[in-house]
Amino acid sequence: MSIALVILAAGKGTRMNSDIPKVLHPIAQAPMLEHALAAGRALDPERTIIVAGHGAEAVQTAVAKIEDGAEVVLQEEQLGTAHAVDQARAALEGFSGDAVVLYGDTPFVSADTLERMVEARQRADLVILGFEAADPGRYGRLVMDGDSLERIVEFKDASEAERAITFCNSGLMACDASVMFDLIAKVGNENASGEYYLTDLVALARREGKSVTAVSCDEAETLGINSRAELAQADALFQKRARAELLELGVTLMAPDTVYLAFDTHIGRDTVIEPNVVFGPGVTVESGALIRAFSHLEGCHVSQGAKVGPYARLRPGAELAENTHIGNFVEIKNAEIAEGAKVNHLSYIGDASIGEASNIGAGTITCNYDGVMKHRTEIGARTFIGSNTMLVAPVKVGNEAMTATGAVVTKDVEDGALAIARAEQTNKPGRARKLMDMLRAKKARLQKGAK
Ligand code: UD1
Ligand code: CA
Repeated sequence: MSIALVILAAGKGTRMNSDIPKVLHPIAQAPMLEHALAAGRALDPERTIIVAGHGAEAVQTAVAKIEDGAEVVLQEEQLGTAHAVDQARAALEGFSGDAVVLYGDTPFVSADTLERMVEARQRADLVILGFEAADPGRYGRLVMDGDSLERIVEFKDASEAERAITFCNSGLMACDASVMFDLIAKVGNENASGEYYLTDLVALARREGKSVTAVSCDEAETLGINSRAELAQADALFQKRARAELLELGVTLMAPDTVYLAFDTHIGRDTVIEPNVVFGPGVTVESGALIRAFSHLEGCHVSQGAKVGPYARLRPGAELAENTHIGNFVEIKNAEIAEGAKVNHLSYIGDASIGEASNIGAGTITCNYDGVMKHRTEIGARTFIGSNTMLVAPVKVGNEAMTATGAVVTKDVEDGALAIARAEQTNKPGRARKLMDMLRAKKARLQKGAK
């Protein structure tokens, strides 16, 4: 069965109080729309249509980065959920298979739930995703008749008796695409909101003798986001689950509540994460590594047995091989650190490669940027870079080479050579005492004059 996802994302999100479209606000550093798309991927959709309205251009730009082949269609005026789905009609012309409607602001629906919805389509023409609500509030209510769903009544249009129902509409549904568009054409807007309700599809389908059923999921999966406070809660919920998953996988989190994870953080078994570590997008840490306190990692790969931090910063393109050590106040960007190499203190290594078992002394800087362009530094294997070496890129230091402390290296250093590049020291006997006496006398004169 071919699947087309239709993701509704046109709403303004007034309560976000933002210039950014609601669906682009991030949870665990990925737009909430991306979370919905990721869940939808489990259905292996043939087509993905996103209905955008407010901030459609920004949504289009974001979608192009997130999902190859996804199409964005425009809903110019937000006339209701049925009208929103209707905007995908032209894009899905000629598509045969099921349409699955998701909401861009409902990021936590699980792949498993979506699969159960598609499965249920074998038993019914139209499948709605419902949930038992702890507080049904203003959700649409599902009016069941045994296993079959009779209709959905919106809170605004519901009677007292209907409002007492706690089985609620998540908004998600699955239906044969052409059947869905035929039914949508029959939806009117004579209701309390004057909107075209997608929920009317249920009664319309029943009237035509079609079968309708509801699949139920955990309320947490249907969590919708309407404000910054709900966004923060959603992020917290994501963090809680992601930490629990890592613990389950055999990762040690010394203080789980202080570790901030991204939507795509991968950490291997027996790795230890100390308190207050932040993961940006695109991080993989292999097994048996140690990430010490207050480190910040993004877009990097940390191999088995590596030690990072405390207070280390790994930026995009940092590639640490096995048993490397990256110590305190060290920043690594777009650089490969080969097996067993160490950069332990106060250094910046950017656009560089460091060979196996090399040791980079404290305060070493790869001067990679000339104000216009970036240049590479290449350091060989088993080389020793003295403390406070400035490596003025582009520059190469060979294997088993050394640089003297304080060197400003502007020329390549061949294998086995020692580079000394600093002003020579001269000592002036007795000059320090003389200088001190002179300065003290000057200070005394000034203080006298001031009285
Ligand atoms: C909808 C359902 C309600 C359900 C609730 C679950 C209808 C009529 N009601 O109500 O039964 O309990 O969701 O959260 O469907 N959207 C558009 N274009 C529009 C209108 C909405 O793209 O013209 C999008 C919104 O951005 C949002 C989603 O559709 O992602 C739902 O819209 P919203 O206005 O929040 O619907 P509710 O009134 O909450
Ligand atoms: Ca809503």
